[in-house]
Amino acid sequence: MAGIGNDYHVPKLRTLVREVHKNDGKIAAQLNYGGLHNLVDKAGPSMYMMRGTKARALSTEEIHDIIEAFGEAAERAMAAGFDGVQIHGAHGYLLSQFLSRLANRRTDKWGGNLENRARLLFKVYDAVRARVGSNVPVLLKINCDDFSRTGFTIKDSTEVAKAICKRGLQAIEVSGGGIGRQEDLRARACSLDRELYEASFAGHAIKMRKVTQSTPMALVNGLRSRACMEAIIDKDVADLISMSRPFIREPDLVKRLKAGREASTCTSCSLCISKEVFGKMMLRCHLE
Ligand SMILES: Cc1cc2nc3c(=O)[nH]c(=O)nc-3n(C[C@H](O)[C@H](O)[C@H](O)COP(=O)(O)O)c2cc1C
Repeated sequence: MAGIGNDYHVPKLRTLVREVHKNDGKIAAQLNYGGLHNLVDKAGPSMYMMRGTKARALSTEEIHDIIEAFGEAAERAMAAGFDGVQIHGAHGYLLSQFLSRLANRRTDKWGGNLENRARLLFKVYDAVRARVGSNVPVLLKINCDDFSRTGFTIKDSTEVAKAICKRGLQAIEVSGGGIGRQEDLRARACSLDRELYEASFAGHAIKMRKVTQSTPMALVNGLRSRACMEAIIDKDVADLISMSRPFIREPDLVKRLKAGREASTCTSCSLCISKEVFGKMMLRCHLE
């Protein structure tokens, strides 16, 4: 993850944006705060054991500072020329930690019922929107479920999605996981429709779509074949196809699909994000 927490990050980010624009692309900056996953100061909603390390609870003052920091990061994204920003509310990072009952055991107005657990996300959205104005796309990546049964469920995610879309979000990306059991990921969220089966969260996305209808939706995780991508669009499951690992393997995948290829050759082996290599060497596909 590239930093955007300080003004000194802006010139390098501007170089990246220029390259994308030169090639007729659009690029949004994803804004994230690690919380319990931070490398140096592990601090999240509540005291928590994170991979054998005790993480501390954030103070109210620190929560306010973080909201402000998201706003500042959004302003830096604009200074660097990004076309939009995406708030990262998924995968067990800070905002998704607050949303999840499992990681958020606070008893103040930042924890407890869903309204309180979603307060940080809404405040962050408002801070970001205030900095970028109404003409810049603000997107959100959110878990449909964190797969921990009592953490953040599809019932919670539909409610939060509905409320934040009403606030004026330009697009919502449906993802999942990061807190609960990875093994449960597909089982609860996929669709039994054979044409959609490849998409890990299609079943849950259909439920979320019902409440977010006029807000464009992107779907991520597991999409590899043209047939599934087309089914997602044709069956109105989502408006946008989102992928990560296939682009690590084949950065020019879109061109290849346009030229007639039926699917990505990514096998979802996840070596690219394994603890042996991720962050230790340059990001690349390790499959021969
Ligand atoms: C190496 C790597 C780094 C990732 N970093 C991020 C990230 O910074 N933000 C994010 O939202 N998702 C991140 N993800 C998750 C992907 O965006 C995506 O949700 C996930 O890989 C599932 O999609 P896929 O099946 O198309 O790979 C990362 C995934 C990989 C493999």
